[in-house]
Amino acid sequence: MNIVSTIKEVRDAVAAWRKEGLTVGLVPTMGFLHEGHQSLIQKAVEENDRVVVSVFVNPTQFGPNEDFEAYPRDLDKDAALCESTGAHLIFHPEPEEMYPDGFCSYINMTELTGALCGKTRPIHFKGVCTVVGKLFNIVTPDKAYFGEKDAQQLAVIRRMVKDLNFGLTIVGCPIIREEDGLAKSSRNTYLNADERKAALVLSKAIFHGKEMVENGEKCADKILNEMKAIINAEPLARIDYVEMVNMDTMDNIDTVAGTTLCAMAVYIGKTRLIDNFIVEM
Ligand code: PAF
Repeated sequence: MNIVSTIKEVRDAVAAWRKEGLTVGLVPTMGFLHEGHQSLIQKAVEENDRVVVSVFVNPTQFGPNEDFEAYPRDLDKDAALCESTGAHLIFHPEPEEMYPDGFCSYINMTELTGALCGKTRPIHFKGVCTVVGKLFNIVTPDKAYFGEKDAQQLAVIRRMVKDLNFGLTIVGCPIIREEDGLAKSSRNTYLNADERKAALVLSKAIFHGKEMVENGEKCADKILNEMKAIINAEPLARIDYVEMVNMDTMDNIDTVAGTTLCAMAVYIGKTRLIDNFIVEM
């Protein structure tokens, strides 16, 4: 497995694979990889001849008061995980490689991005779409893999691919959880021991809401109120949002119907964590 830092090196590697008629999968990440990322890489390895993992903490998707500087980084550990999982190439560019002087072209989606995480992170999806669009153009993969934990991001990327005619397939992969239920996230490393315990209110509320839907409850307010009560009972937790939306439009719903996303962002201390469940009715 090679680690490269320039766009030219990625393009040369992909061109050589294409000459041999090989298919290429891409797993975009910000590094500090865990079992959630590993499940994406595994799926990509199963479905493609060659797999590129990008490891890039993308500055344009962080707001001014967010954790860009503090975001955990460990390329050696990431490389070991990628290699043992069967990836073929890591693309680890410097910010200047992706955003050289004079960079001024962004992908700005006008729908889907103002809801949920977009309310408190207004520039987030512009940065995500721009970097993911660039990665698609650099790697030109047949398939790209994203986790359902970032369900809004997945919906936004699917829409971007459709709207802008990127010629690839997007594959969504299920949330991977710790044994006690907490969704795996690179940001879990910010939690101290008390916060780690408190963070269980997210998955507790998610499992409770999902169970209510499975037992036939369709009233969004009723489900959301019970979920919020579980979270509000934890003194270290502060709700950013807990909402139910239509998965395609991100519009709020009153009644569970069609493909419904129930998503939350909750601060545990200073750490903002997300979780969700998706139901098809
Ligand atoms: O989900 C992430 O880790 C990031 O948002 C992504 C898709 C790698 C873009 O920087």
